[in-house]
Amino acid sequence: MIKVSERVKAIAPSMTLAISAKANELKAAGEKVINFGVGEPDFNTPEHIVAAAKDALDKGYTKYVAAAGLPALKKAIVKKLKIDNNLDYEPSQIIVSNGAKHSIFNAIFATINEGDEVLIPKPYWLTYPEVIKSCGGIPEYIYATPRHGYKITAAQVEAAVTPRTKMLIFNSPCNPTGAVYTQDEIKAIAEVCIKHDLIVLADEIYEKLIYGGQEHFSIAAVSPEMKERTIVINGVSKSYAMTGWRLGYLACPENVAKAISSFQSHSTSNVNTMTQYAALAALEGDDKPMRDMIAAFGRRRDKMLEMLESYKPLGLDYVKPDGAFYVMLLCDKLYGKSFRGQKIHGSMDVADMLLTHKKVAATPGVCFGDDDAIRLSYALSTKDMLEGLEAIADFARECK
Ligand SMILES: Cc1ncc(COP(=O)(O)O)c(C=O)c1O
Repeated sequence: MIKVSERVKAIAPSMTLAISAKANELKAAGEKVINFGVGEPDFNTPEHIVAAAKDALDKGYTKYVAAAGLPALKKAIVKKLKIDNNLDYEPSQIIVSNGAKHSIFNAIFATINEGDEVLIPKPYWLTYPEVIKSCGGIPEYIYATPRHGYKITAAQVEAAVTPRTKMLIFNSPCNPTGAVYTQDEIKAIAEVCIKHDLIVLADEIYEKLIYGGQEHFSIAAVSPEMKERTIVINGVSKSYAMTGWRLGYLACPENVAKAISSFQSHSTSNVNTMTQYAALAALEGDDKPMRDMIAAFGRRRDKMLEMLESYKPLGLDYVKPDGAFYVMLLCDKLYGKSFRGQKIHGSMDVADMLLTHKKVAATPGVCFGDDDAIRLSYALSTKDMLEGLEAIADFARECK
């Protein structure tokens, strides 16, 4: 038998798989399952972006290009970072990869040594700890409590730093909580990072999905000093409904970009060429489809929050999210109660019971390091969303 390496042994299997496998089984058996587990926009990629990819194929742009990205696309990314984030980069500081996930892997692989500690606010996107572990790092968690709007504070970062701390993961807007940090909160956290010489991996993939007048601010834009220690992660997956195309990018100091470029040239080479032309059209073309999608998400968020507000007497609670397309539904008040004779111990039980008895799929918070809630995505039709929310309320009503 081939023994797998110690490196990959440390990686946990995805905890969300059990729930999605069960949901798929139910669907295959002809049941209607309302899916609040979705992690991608339920919108099609805008037509002009699809047309750009077709055009690239027709023109025969099907060959290798530079491993770190098509020069025209890198230029467009530089322009985007200037216009949207007030950040000045050279094209040589940009690396285009196969999704933001790949960019995150590259960034951690290029900077984390054996035994380095990486601070992660929790609840967290479940990929971070696994990538850190696979690169020999040690994830350390800072609890972003619902009481503080699911946001960590500068004081918490200060308290969590040890001589081995190398990096802070900073994800705003956040998956799974939807939390969006204000400029002042970001500045305070940046100060601590500068003081302790930390690298910041700023995952800004949900940048465009912000509602209610809140604005995105990149931590790299705090000061030139901060920019020097930040690796900005972004991509087209969520903003332009392009999850399947696989294109993300990072922007960082020249020496790190050079190392990542060399590594990528030996691992994946360039992101497929037609996707890069599609991404170019996304960044440079008409942004109306994106604005329409954001407006639709905003309306759904408001509707969902209105419903959740009315469920508070049932022992359910939530923190108003300002971004992404998720809400954490606090259900810890149901723990210790029983549903149809079955005791509820945690978020996995809630998700399992909802799926089995109410045909509603949601992601248990324990997957994100927070067992007090389940994550509801509103990347589904309003009709399904309302039906599913009523089913969740029925579940809570039946808990004794
Ligand atoms: C916080 C966060 N970062 C990064 C990603 C990865 O994005 P991509 O599909 O571009 O790899 C996701 C996808 O779910 C995410 O939620």
